[in-house]
Amino acid sequence: MSNEHPHTRPLAVVILAAGKGTRMKSDKPKVMHELAGLPMINWLLKSAEALEPEKIIVVTGPDMPELEAAVQPHQTVVQEVRDGTGGAVRIAAPLLKNFEGDVLIVLGDTPLMSEYTMRNLIASRGDAPLSVLGTVLQNPFGYGRLILDQQGFLQAIVEEKDADAEQKAIQLVNTGVFCVDGAQLGDWLDKLDNNNAQGEFYITQLPEIIQDTMIVSVTPDAHETLGCNTRSDLATLEGHLQNRLREEFMENGVTMQAPETVYFWNDTEIGEGSYIEPNVIFGPNVKVGKDVTIKGFSHLEGATVKKGAIIGPFARLRPDAVIGEDAKIGNFVEIKKSNIGQGAKINHLAYVGDCEMGDRVNFSAGAITVNYDGFQKHQTIIGKDVMVGSNVNLVAPVTIDDGAFVAAGSTITEDVPADALGIARDPAQIRKGWASKFRKAKEEAKAKQSQKKA
Ligand code: UD1
Ligand code: MG
Repeated sequence: MSNEHPHTRPLAVVILAAGKGTRMKSDKPKVMHELAGLPMINWLLKSAEALEPEKIIVVTGPDMPELEAAVQPHQTVVQEVRDGTGGAVRIAAPLLKNFEGDVLIVLGDTPLMSEYTMRNLIASRGDAPLSVLGTVLQNPFGYGRLILDQQGFLQAIVEEKDADAEQKAIQLVNTGVFCVDGAQLGDWLDKLDNNNAQGEFYITQLPEIIQDTMIVSVTPDAHETLGCNTRSDLATLEGHLQNRLREEFMENGVTMQAPETVYFWNDTEIGEGSYIEPNVIFGPNVKVGKDVTIKGFSHLEGATVKKGAIIGPFARLRPDAVIGEDAKIGNFVEIKKSNIGQGAKINHLAYVGDCEMGDRVNFSAGAITVNYDGFQKHQTIIGKDVMVGSNVNLVAPVTIDDGAFVAAGSTITEDVPADALGIARDPAQIRKGWASKFRKAKEEAKAKQSQKKA
């Protein structure tokens, strides 16, 4: 059987997500916990949607409005009483009445399951009534174990809490993903009982009910099938997902010296030919163009960086920072809600907020926009080719027009016209011989002190 062919039967996907996730110790539904900033359920939906099923049904628990909103526009049904994974599928069953085709059952807390693996499982069912996705785990604790017959077909699934010592030693586990014959599913669900250690209706009782040749499709990628039951699991999943994102960026032409130290958000965009040094963090909504260099320890969120710009090391780009082509943003520079022109340089220790900065501006060390008066934010407009000296305060609202200079150390509270010099500081006073006189007086005083002590 070839896996390249798309499925030929109609497909429906049921995602079980009614569990509160008690082991997470959290007020929010388990599947709303995020990986790279996107709820687990939405990662799973991405893969499920890629299969182009006729419908996706999400089983939620009572009082989970945020989950219902997160899975729009898909259908949701509420499982009022959390009586097990089988109980959850039962709640979805009326929506599958008369559905002839494949029903893919997926657990909402297994968010890294890929479209590819789902397709393989669907294809593997063939004419069998059921196929289950299995994987081999070194430590299978907590998972349902797959019991095979001598020919390698599925006989039963035994949950951890119901397993005897011999069964517990089995390392081939149930990942929780099933593909079943939709036409028969309703009848099978009617036969589930809750005579087990947890007193729940298990979907894993299906094989025992079906008693026919059933397929086990084993995925070699155990990462994809990891379930999330605890915050520690969540961190493990985050690690795997970050690795996946790193691989994708490298495949798309992004170089990273130490990819394992670079963290991405689910929506990060980076253009070909860009170079990311170690220890860079991408928050939500960052778009980086081609051939950009981001040096170590930079933190970006909500920022757009255009082609050829150089950022960092130790730069902080905050929401609505737009960095023009070939601009340079150096160490300990923070930029927020500002457009920085092409080729502008803000190389050291600066704050730029609520600012329109023209092309080729030089914004020197320690210069800042004073954008907040304690009540409101104000704009700073800087024209093209402006030179802002070191330690300048530009008190907004203020405009520095094209080609102007602002002298180092100035606090500028008025507009500076084009090509003018703005200077606002006391003239320096030079007192000849002052230092040597001061030093002598101090040394004499010290000598007197030690004479007294002696
Ligand atoms: C389940 C499987 C186990 C498998 C493991 C893989 C059963 C009985 N056990 O165990 O064989 O190895 O997943 O991760 O199926 N849910 C509902 N309603 C319920 C109960 C659960 O919607 O009444 C949902 C949960 O939200 C969750 C998923 O089903 O997304 C799995 O539930 P969970 O309690 O985590 O099952 P496991 O103990 O992990
Ligand atoms: Mg689980």
